[in-house]
Amino acid sequence: MQLQNNKIGWLEGIIEAIHDGILVIDHVGVVQLINEEYTHITGVSAEQIVGKLLQEVRPGALLPTVLKDGLAREGVFRKEMTMEYVVDMAPIWDQGKIIGAVSVCKSIPEVYRLNKELKKSRKRVTMLERAVGRIHQAKYTFANIIGSDVQLKQTIEQAKRTAQTDMNILLSGESGTGKELFAQAIHNESKRRVAPFVPVNCAAIPSSLLESELFGYEEGAFTDSNRDGKIGLFELANHGTLFLDEIGDMSFELQAKLLRVLQEGSFRKIGGLEEQTVDVRVIAATNKELQSMVEKERFREDLFYRINTVHLTIPPLRERKNDITEIIAFLLKNEADITFDPETIFILQHYHWPGNIRELKNAIQYAISMCDHQVIRQEHLPDTIKKAFNATQQQSITLQPLEKILNDTERTAIQSVLNQTGTTVKGKKKAAKILGISLASLYNKLTKYHI
Ligand SMILES: Nc1ncnc2c1ncn2[C@@H]1O[C@H](COP(=O)(O)OP(=O)(O)O)[C@@H](O)[C@H]1O
Ligand SMILES: [Mg+2]
Repeated sequence: MQLQNNKIGWLEGIIEAIHDGILVIDHVGVVQLINEEYTHITGVSAEQIVGKLLQEVRPGALLPTVLKDGLAREGVFRKEMTMEYVVDMAPIWDQGKIIGAVSVCKSIPEVYRLNKELKKSRKRVTMLERAVGRIHQAKYTFANIIGSDVQLKQTIEQAKRTAQTDMNILLSGESGTGKELFAQAIHNESKRRVAPFVPVNCAAIPSSLLESELFGYEEGAFTDSNRDGKIGLFELANHGTLFLDEIGDMSFELQAKLLRVLQEGSFRKIGGLEEQTVDVRVIAATNKELQSMVEKERFREDLFYRINTVHLTIPPLRERKNDITEIIAFLLKNEADITFDPETIFILQHYHWPGNIRELKNAIQYAISMCDHQVIRQEHLPDTIKKAFNATQQQSITLQPLEKILNDTERTAIQSVLNQTGTTVKGKKKAAKILGISLASLYNKLTKYHI
């Protein structure tokens, strides 16, 4: 008996704690209990209703019907006098018999409030979905960086070492030298690899928008109050890496705000009051001389020193000509039937590659599509490269006999291909294939040129 009483006490406690109105009737329709919230929502007190037939006190009540048909009902709208509410109803079964019924009520303002909250949550989900679309998972690692140039190798080593730290990194190099590739590789080598890698190109976004891209804004921060709030890229990159490409193009004012996040590890959304803490590693990239921009007061000196703690420089392709054949071999690894005419390799090695590896990749793709899966010759190269070559030829060709020029060209081409393939028999076979000649013919040429 003691236990029974205890149980009832517990149940009453639980029912009182529920934020919905509860009313329970027994099998004949007499109200057994209600909670305070029920009184609050309907205006009916326990004294008015408990121990009485529900139908007598509340003639419009549907709960007695539940006793008859045993069917639960959801979301039934009820109005008694000025009180409006929504009710869920269910029978209470015991050993195959209906012994009562329960109704759970929510006041309309509460329903409105929940509805509003749901709408807000939905908005936030859409916002997050939009934001997540911005995250490019970093797909490249150091294994994807091709090249044997000594300076490039040193940069890779330095990058690998600093990847393990939380230091900010400045990557400089001409367009297309692989700055983003390095940034991704560093992210993937660091302990942050499981968190987002978020790239943003400071030159591509107008400076008025860049601030809200980076820091986000609160709902109603702008006069156009229809706008929902926005999650900024800093928040999105939390625990991960933010890649600020073309940082030299960031406006002076925004540089100050960036400096503050880097120093404090926190920022405020536009229109926001709260400081938000973030743990983000910044990798910045530039193809400009930031140092001279500092001297000309176009880049903040304090920010420059903040991001310049580790400075990695990626050499342009024209300063590592031997990497050209290696990258070409890599790009052709799935194109078994395509070979290169030696003269073409010579042209590619002597071109100045203003667009670096990006341009080389595009040129090779273009040539592959033009050569009909056979030998890539001069005519298959993009016009800019052909024109640049013809211009240099006109400057130098008349000074030497044609045979010497051809021999020199051939010698350089063979030498550079062998530098990549190696001089083992296997390497020579590979070189012959790349050069589009037979192995025997390669051996003859090696003897001829004393290679
Ligand atoms: N060393 C490299 N080995 C292989 N691919 C490279 C290398 N460097 C750059 N790339 C490729 O060249 C293109 C341009 O590189 P990217 O990182 O976007 O250059 P940047 O950011 O300096 O303009 C990309 O497709 C990249 O994968
Ligand atoms: Mg880039």
